[in-house]
Amino acid sequence: MLYMQQMRTLRRSFFFFLSAVLPTDPVKENYVRKVKNCVFSIAFPTPFQSRVRLVAVSKEVLEDILDLDLSVSETDDFIQLVSGGKIVFGSIPLAHRYGGHQFGIWADQLGDGRAHLIGIYMNRQGEKWELQLKGSGKTPYSRNGDGRAILRSSLREFLCSEAMHYLGIPTSRAASLVVSDDVVWRDQFYNGNLTKVPGAVVLRVAKSWFRIGSLEILTHSGELDLLRMLLDFIIQEYFPLVDVKEPNRYVDFFSIVVFETAQLIALWMSVGFAHGVCNTDNFSLLSITIDYGPFGFMEAYNPDFVPNTSDDERRYKIGNQANIGMFNLNKLLQALNPLLNPRQKQLVTQILKEYPVLYYTRFRELFKAKLGLLGKSEGDDDLIAFLLHLMEKTEADFTMTFRQLSEITQSQLQELVIPQEFWALKMISKHKLFPAWVSQYLSRLKSNISDSDSERRKRMTAVNPRYVLKNWMAESAVQKAERNDFSEVHLLQQVLRHPFQKHSAAERAGYSSPTPSWARDLRVSCSS
Ligand SMILES: *[C@@H]1O[C@H](CO)[C@@H](O)[C@H](O)[C@H]1NC(C)=O
Ligand SMILES: *[C@@H]1O[C@H](CO)[C@@H](O)[C@H](O)[C@H]1NC(C)=O
Ligand SMILES: *[C@@H]1O[C@H](CO)[C@@H](O)[C@H](O)[C@H]1NC(C)=O
Ligand SMILES: *[C@@H]1O[C@H](CO)[C@@H](O)[C@H](O)[C@H]1NC(C)=O
Repeated sequence: MLYMQQMRTLRRSFFFFLSAVLPTDPVKENYVRKVKNCVFSIAFPTPFQSRVRLVAVSKEVLEDILDLDLSVSETDDFIQLVSGGKIVFGSIPLAHRYGGHQFGIWADQLGDGRAHLIGIYMNRQGEKWELQLKGSGKTPYSRNGDGRAILRSSLREFLCSEAMHYLGIPTSRAASLVVSDDVVWRDQFYNGNLTKVPGAVVLRVAKSWFRIGSLEILTHSGELDLLRMLLDFIIQEYFPLVDVKEPNRYVDFFSIVVFETAQLIALWMSVGFAHGVCNTDNFSLLSITIDYGPFGFMEAYNPDFVPNTSDDERRYKIGNQANIGMFNLNKLLQALNPLLNPRQKQLVTQILKEYPVLYYTRFRELFKAKLGLLGKSEGDDDLIAFLLHLMEKTEADFTMTFRQLSEITQSQLQELVIPQEFWALKMISKHKLFPAWVSQYLSRLKSNISDSDSERRKRMTAVNPRYVLKNWMAESAVQKAERNDFSEVHLLQQVLRHPFQKHSAAERAGYSSPTPSWARDLRVSCSS
């Protein structure tokens, strides 16, 4: 049978070298504790007691990353593997020990409280991918948690991480989502009432799950030899541009993380993505988007947009993400500090100072592309800022304003006759300064005589998505899924795989329309 062969190949190409090259916790029992002098604890997933069903799979992750045929996902073997029911023979599942600054404050030991690294898969292309289950039971890092995840948060992560990938943003991927009949108790509505909800597990894959907090915990505990060992390992495995024998390697490493973090946050901003919990434990050292919690795509343009409704201080509002990036990188710098000589300390401080410039350079580049601007002109920053200002004042939809600017013709814009279907542009056009912006924009476009309007629209529709996973869309899919109807999950998967292409079922579902009235006051429930 084909699937048996494929599953065998998958198993045979599993590696567990992390536990061979990095120290693991000598304590093998699985109870919550303070862990010292190691990078991982060996911890086995807790199988569900009752029936487990597959809710969704990513065909591309299965086929392109895991070398599996989609049909394999129907098999019991597969479902056992991705739900933590059965582990690969010889596997040494791991929970990672890390710390972090949460909401600006050192939180000490955190760690994988409900995630298990089940192995590293080396695929046909020779790429190594780390497979991690989330929601698969307690570990030494579970603190007060039950080690489980629920359908709502798992589905949001599954859909969003895949959607981000197709938007061209570095991210962890999601291979599968299963749900069980085992229930977990959650205060879903924050009213003190616990309700029963089904437990769910996502199989997530990434090149690496190391975070800023992975290093911080070692510095804070004074485990400097281990810090050096982990850093050298990380550099060797994931930073091919850095020479691990070079005395300045930590400076070079830092410089790449600073650069890549600036790139990532600028990319988030270009699609209106707010991560929601940018703690140092949720910031990847490889600068990929990880740990999808109360994230949100901004609808009406608003720099104060906060997806986590309990973030009362608005620390992680969308307009603050670039600053938080700086804060987190500064914490990384502090974690590296004990390994640096005075000269190197100066260098990393200097490198961090360049972060705002790196960020704004990328931000400008991305927003110029969103407006279809070629070349360089004095007024470009103003043109972008002016548009964002009008969007903010009129509460125009961020995604659709840019998309509709990509679809409308220059002559329609020039005459200020905006067809009804361009509802976001209709909103922004209510501002009295809109004609002034249009005239600046058009003269900027016309400054290049070899450019054509159809070329401009082609460029713009390729970078301005028509569909992003707005909160109400996720919510609608979640509510149906909770009633065992996965049709909208599948529709969203299809649509978000090609976010730049018009899709008739998506249009019928209203995914490019104004937010439906039922969802206007919807807020992200952070129950996870
Ligand atoms: C909690 O649940 C009980 C019973 O279902 C209900 O009567 C009560 O109104 C709920 N409390 C809140 C705050 O919603
Ligand atoms: C991300 O941050 C939130 C809030 O601090 C925390 O609850 C969560 O555990 C973090 N996620 C992971 C996987 O570290
Ligand atoms: C949302 O913000 C609150 C307040 O800062 C925080 O306690 C909570 O952990 C956040 N939610 C999540 C899921 O991180
Ligand atoms: C003008 O547009 C052409 C193609 O349309 C492009 O190749 C060229 O780089 C642009 N020149 C400037 C100065 O923007």
